[in-house]
Amino acid sequence: MPENFMKNKILVTGGAGYLGSHTCIALHEAGYDIAVYDNLSNSSREAINRVSTLIGQKIEFIEGDIRDAELLRQVFASHEFFGVIHFAGLKAVGESVVKPLLYYNNNVGGTIILLEVMAEYDVKSLVFSSSATVYGDPDTLPIDESSKRFCTNPYGQSKLAIEYILEDLAKADNSWNLIALRYFNPIGAHSSGQIGEDPNGIPNNLMPYISQVAVGKLEKLSIFGNDYPTVDGTGVRDFIHVTDLAQGHVAALDYLEQQISSNKINISKKKSVGFLPINLGTGGGTSVLELVNAFTEVTGRDISYQFTDRRLGDIASCYADIDKAKFLLGWKAKLSIHDMCQDSWRWQILNPNGYD
Ligand code: NAD
Ligand code: UFG
Repeated sequence: MPENFMKNKILVTGGAGYLGSHTCIALHEAGYDIAVYDNLSNSSREAINRVSTLIGQKIEFIEGDIRDAELLRQVFASHEFFGVIHFAGLKAVGESVVKPLLYYNNNVGGTIILLEVMAEYDVKSLVFSSSATVYGDPDTLPIDESSKRFCTNPYGQSKLAIEYILEDLAKADNSWNLIALRYFNPIGAHSSGQIGEDPNGIPNNLMPYISQVAVGKLEKLSIFGNDYPTVDGTGVRDFIHVTDLAQGHVAALDYLEQQISSNKINISKKKSVGFLPINLGTGGGTSVLELVNAFTEVTGRDISYQFTDRRLGDIASCYADIDKAKFLLGWKAKLSIHDMCQDSWRWQILNPNGYD
């Protein structure tokens, strides 16, 4: 990257959370200077402390809500940001069905306020945490970025609404550079075992549930459905190691920097990135039973399970077409299902009660 040319300070909203904390480490290792902005509604200060210890440097942390425009203005006025990585948001599908206004207010309302403040300070580069949930039940597999988008729950609708807002913004003003990373199923933890996923109460997602059964906190895993048209009847997902996902964000920022600097140098080619959706997955599917078996193989722990009815809203199979990430960002996931199990397990045994 050309020295003294690009600003490389990044604001990471939601940086105290599961994906954000791992990405902070990857950004630091790649030479980015970061400030984290998080209201700690679903995370703890301890995650920030541990990231600081891991990188050997105190992370700049601002406790704040993305809906607080005044505080955001103060933060933008006192820093020179190159761009924003925007993880902040609520993510529990079930809760979103019960509290739709909270989800629209926090996720959509909060993102609009963030974008307005970014515009005021002429910071026009954003990497947004979207989700494979925007594809709903896909017609074809693997899912590429041009697949139709359709969601049924308020959480998914909030992600889709934000994507539409970003698209409209890019159409209206061609100085924006907006990447929506559509994550498939991130699992695993940092190889140190110091940071990881810390769900509140009983986990909704598969890997934290498996780990808590393995450690004896939960008795038995319920596998939701064994009659799907898949390899063994259980659901198939594209599980991706959180460390690979974090690297995907570094690749997305590097891409934005390259594009912006080449457009500045070559004025005749003046064209911004606009709105760019990119899948972050491995490109392969693993069934629920395959993941359970891999976990047992790696850890030596048996996972008791029972088959129960399908979970409402679940789909049979979901995995990514990863060509766009490969060709545009030069990024590809490297870690295996075994690495994901090993690292989830290390985090679980070292931190049986998460960050508490
Ligand atoms: P997380 O809950 O661990 O992290 C989100 C962070 O945002 C938390 O630290 C929370 O305190 C913060 N936050 C929430 N609302 C805020 C607000 N109004 N102002 C400031 N901070 C706020 O979740 P995660 O798993 O790290 O997910 C990060 C992002 O990625 C979310 O937007 C989520 O929807 C998206 N995503 C996650 C997954 C997944 O499986 N983990 C999959 C697809 C997309
Ligand atoms: N599953 C079980 N038992 C459990 C939990 C999950 O059998 O206790 C099964 C599900 O039925 C599904 C698979 O495990 O077949 C994965 O389920 P998760 O809840 O771990 O993940 P989802 O694919 O349902 O959804 C996740 C996030 C969403 C995100 C989506 C795509 O929770 O927010 O990945 O990125 F949108």
